[in-house]
Amino acid sequence: MKRETVVVLDFGGQYNQLIARRVRECNVYCEIYSYKTSIEKIKEIQPKGIIFTGGPNSCYEEDSPTYSKEIFELGVPILGICYGSQLMMHLLGGKVEKAPVREYGKIEVNVDTHSKLFQDVSPKTICWMSHNDYISKAAPGFSISAWTNDCPVAAVENPEKNLYAVQFHPEVLHTQEGTKMLSNFVYHVCGCAGDWKMDSFVEESIRSIREKVGNGKVLCALSGGVDSSVAAVLLSKAVGNQLTCVFVDHGLLRKNEGDEVEAVFGPNGNYNLNFIRVNAQERFYEKLKGVEEPEKKRKIIGEEFIRVFEEEAKKIGTVDFLVQGTIYPDVVESGVGGESTVIKSHHNVGGLPDYVDFKEIIEPLRNLFKDEVRQAGLELGIPEYLVFRQPFPGPGLGVRIIGEITADKVRMVQDADAIWREEIARAGWDKKVNQYFAALTNMKSVGVMGDERTYDYAIALRAVTTTDFMTAESAEIPWEVIGRTTSRIVNEVKHVNRVLYDCTGKPPATIEFE
Ligand code: XMP
Repeated sequence: MKRETVVVLDFGGQYNQLIARRVRECNVYCEIYSYKTSIEKIKEIQPKGIIFTGGPNSCYEEDSPTYSKEIFELGVPILGICYGSQLMMHLLGGKVEKAPVREYGKIEVNVDTHSKLFQDVSPKTICWMSHNDYISKAAPGFSISAWTNDCPVAAVENPEKNLYAVQFHPEVLHTQEGTKMLSNFVYHVCGCAGDWKMDSFVEESIRSIREKVGNGKVLCALSGGVDSSVAAVLLSKAVGNQLTCVFVDHGLLRKNEGDEVEAVFGPNGNYNLNFIRVNAQERFYEKLKGVEEPEKKRKIIGEEFIRVFEEEAKKIGTVDFLVQGTIYPDVVESGVGGESTVIKSHHNVGGLPDYVDFKEIIEPLRNLFKDEVRQAGLELGIPEYLVFRQPFPGPGLGVRIIGEITADKVRMVQDADAIWREEIARAGWDKKVNQYFAALTNMKSVGVMGDERTYDYAIALRAVTTTDFMTAESAEIPWEVIGRTTSRIVNEVKHVNRVLYDCTGKPPATIEFE
């Protein structure tokens, strides 16, 4: 059975992944393609609908992203958003020019509720606008279906041809009824049935993995993070003990984390898989001895991880398939899907080795957004604390210990971090912040404890709120929580005599310290 698909044609706007996520929240599968994708490829996909995204350009300028007019003749419904709406008008004979008044922010928009797009939407509704150009004249055959004081053409449509265009951004949450509008588009205009659901995704994946793997052997690098855990469980449900999971404990995990991962996935855990835990702490500490430079540390940890994994893989012998926990944003960001050119430089312990002897890679989560991976995890019965785990970098505590890493420093940061996490959770702040941890500065300072002078380390506490981890704000944790954590850390963690709170946002700081 072919799954119904909506194509998001990416013209370089900042909210493009958001459009795809919102469509998927309506239970309609959606993929992002660059505007450079050929029309033949689009036809091959047989989309139920197409959405043109926003973008930073002016469509009337030469060299601006554009598309063949033939797309409007495919008979596939199209929704243009912001730049996408202007481009549609420009290509079809309307007029787009610099707006006399630039609109930015939440704006009250009047909509014609007779339009299929605005069915059940309030006649006056708050929408998010961000544009310098505007449509000054609709293209022939189009009628105006929304307007504001400064934007006489806030939406246009040609219902006979199923072509719709909106100047505002229905995908951002500031557009109060935006999800309703996108849902109207996919259901009432495109006629989708809504077959994208996580339970059927899990079932379908298990079936297709079984078919692909047959009697083959499968190898998976398990980090205990959300993506690799969900990938591993999906594979284990599909092929049982034909799967081997290698979990490398590099000695830079959070307190008790190695044992927690083993408890879930190991021999006494919930799954029938071959679980190999490699305790490689000493090896990593040895390699990291005397190394202070952050990038060098990251590189050593990444390379050593691969060496260890490779050695374990060799012991298993030839494997047929290697599992990777790649998820959809990685695919889009690596330039395969959309127009965005950001390449991740992050090392992901999820599994890089391309020289381990295997025939094929399986990436079962390749089409999922993070929130969908979590839903799939719940469907698979993975414990909630694993599914909703905060992000943890591949190099682990290695990037949370400033300067040289030693076993003793690892212990300090692990203990302090465990206390911070405990206190944050006790105060209910674990639900309000997106990432929080302790880091060890390499600053030593003078203190006094009892009647004794101390000369010890300072721990830095961090807690941030963020939606995409590209920017973040330092969270305003109540003083009481910070105070209680501070006194516990200086009392319970040996060689720490000072606790600092990091008030810096990103930018200018990064979330991690190195
Ligand atoms: P920064 O420090 O760049 O972190 O603001 C942004 C987010 O990415 C996580 N992070 C990593 N994740 N491998 C990963 O898989 C890495 O090397 C890595 N470094 C940072 C960080 O925890 C934060 O959530």
